[in-house]
Amino acid sequence: MSLLVLSGSIRRASFHTKLAAAAAEELDRQGQTYRVLNLADFPLPLYDGDLEAQGLPASARALRQLFSEYDGFVIANPEYNGSITPLLKNVLDWVSRKDAQSSQYEPYAGKTALLLSTSPGSLAGQRALRHTREILTSLGAFVLPQHVAVPNAAQSFSAEGKLVDEKQLQALSTQLAALGRLTAKLAA
Ligand SMILES: Cc1cc2nc3c(=O)[nH]c(=O)nc-3n(C[C@H](O)[C@H](O)[C@H](O)COP(=O)(O)O)c2cc1C
Repeated sequence: MSLLVLSGSIRRASFHTKLAAAAAEELDRQGQTYRVLNLADFPLPLYDGDLEAQGLPASARALRQLFSEYDGFVIANPEYNGSITPLLKNVLDWVSRKDAQSSQYEPYAGKTALLLSTSPGSLAGQRALRHTREILTSLGAFVLPQHVAVPNAAQSFSAEGKLVDEKQLQALSTQLAALGRLTAKLAA
């Protein structure tokens, strides 16, 4: 049973990349198996059916294979204007497409997901999570009912990028443990 951890932002100083790193550190502490994925390593054009007709981009095929190898996802999901970032939506869309070489891979169905968010504001980017939840559910994944949302991002991470609030760390720990339990049951 293993988890794929990813950030929906590739901005160099991304708070979500820090949140994903905090989740990875906690997974490590819990002895769970995971891999942190950097979406910057998989550049993709904006999805276009005409591009797809020329063949799936290598990054899309590689991501589809990679997603299929993991049993669950931890997604640090930034909010842009109340919704999911174009980067993350584009990745989810490309990975949902298959060709003859990747049709044996199942990236989403029967998998689990935990959603995390943060934002410089007090709402912590939570509005976007409803949209990502719907997208993943429509793709056949089981999204944990609880999410972890960290408000006031600029004050919530230390200079080393660690979560400073003990309660937030505890909430993250609790939800990651719940994700591990559900994922193990589904993967059994
Ligand atoms: C186009 C755009 C729209 C945004 N809309 C929202 C929003 O609706 N709610 C919010 O809390 N933050 C919003 N933000 C601020 C982001 O939460 C903030 O830039 C955050 O740091 C992005 O995540 P990152 O640090 O991981 O890159 C928006 C930012 C951008 C660039």
